[in-house]
Amino acid sequence: MPGPMKVLLAVGGGIAAYKSAELARLLMQQGHEVQVVMTAAAEEFVRPLTFAALTGRKVLTNIFAIEAAIEHISVAQEHEILAIAPATADLMAKLAHGMADDFLTTLYLAFTGTVMIAPAMNVNMWQHAATQANLETLVKRGHVIVEPGSGYLACGMTGPGRLADPEAIAEAIERAGKKRRDLEGETVLITAGPTQEPLDPVRYISNRSSGKMGYALADAAATRGARVILISGPVHLAPPRGVEVIPVRTAVEMRTAVMEHLPAAGIVIKAAAVADFHLAKVPDQKVKKTAARVSLELDPTPDILAELGRKKGDFLLIGFAAETQNLAQEARRKLESKNCDMVVGNLVGGSDLGFETDDNEVVLISRQGDPIALPRASKRAIADRIFDEILKLRLTRHAADGR
Ligand code: C5P
Repeated sequence: MPGPMKVLLAVGGGIAAYKSAELARLLMQQGHEVQVVMTAAAEEFVRPLTFAALTGRKVLTNIFAIEAAIEHISVAQEHEILAIAPATADLMAKLAHGMADDFLTTLYLAFTGTVMIAPAMNVNMWQHAATQANLETLVKRGHVIVEPGSGYLACGMTGPGRLADPEAIAEAIERAGKKRRDLEGETVLITAGPTQEPLDPVRYISNRSSGKMGYALADAAATRGARVILISGPVHLAPPRGVEVIPVRTAVEMRTAVMEHLPAAGIVIKAAAVADFHLAKVPDQKVKKTAARVSLELDPTPDILAELGRKKGDFLLIGFAAETQNLAQEARRKLESKNCDMVVGNLVGGSDLGFETDDNEVVLISRQGDPIALPRASKRAIADRIFDEILKLRLTRHAADGR
């Protein structure tokens, strides 16, 4: 039990809204504080009085919010979990696109805690490409989705679209609650993106890393309550909310930044694709074009991960192995050679996974137990699974240390 939580239960306008009354009752029974928010459409299906009686709190509706000048910002800040059940196709579309034309959608944009979405709609609406695209956007944003069940639907059709059972939604809220602050008090140092190694003032060598995996890890850690220091090579990504971003360009700059911030960190994740070679002495002026063939003599860059592995103090060290073949063996070799606690292996090049993509498929290798293969999922979802495993490693280590 994560203990009592402050839950915002948002009810959308679908026939399944009546099931949310049971959900509100279950959450109250579990000892949570429940504040219900209803959309105007939801009020057509169930009266706010039902929820007010069950929760002992006045329900926030669009009209009430306007009349009482309720601040969506303060409501957003006071709660830890926003559970939207049922989420209609229309509501999912609005959330996915950031439209904010009523109390709930405005509140959603101001909300920084865990968002849980339980969709319910007709099977064709659920399977429509537009709804599925919106769903994908919401998953990538890190929201927890409680998938609709299959069965008889109010419209008379049978198939997926039925709101998950209130018990299942209540359980998902409990689970999300447990996860929501489990990195509190922790400082996580993450490197992300490629490095650029100059050849002269206008040219450089780099690689295809987009930084998406590292940024997804930073977002997951911050959402779960950690202080996050993100040392990032040049990428085209918006910094995740609540994360301290330190921009760097070269491997040498990245090393300096990592060593500077290392003393604060309890978990270090090296997701960056650091260049392995650079020009040790970069010319001051642009190199002129000549007809003759040129060759580059490159020196190795500092291997930051290996250096951290040699230092190896109290912090947990997680490396990445981006490989084009023999993934598990290479990841295991890196675990040993760089003295990491875990290596995240992913196949890159050739496939539609790995570099530049939103999805990933990885294998986690540590010294305990068998490799864990995480099937294809969004990088954000993979990031959460990686932290689940890091926390397990931390627990076993504390147990071994007798802490
Ligand atoms: O040996 P390889 O470069 O394939 O190992 C990849 C891992 O090592 C990644 O975690 C990457 O961030 C890290 N690395 C590093 N410094 C380098 C090269 C790689 O920290 N110069």
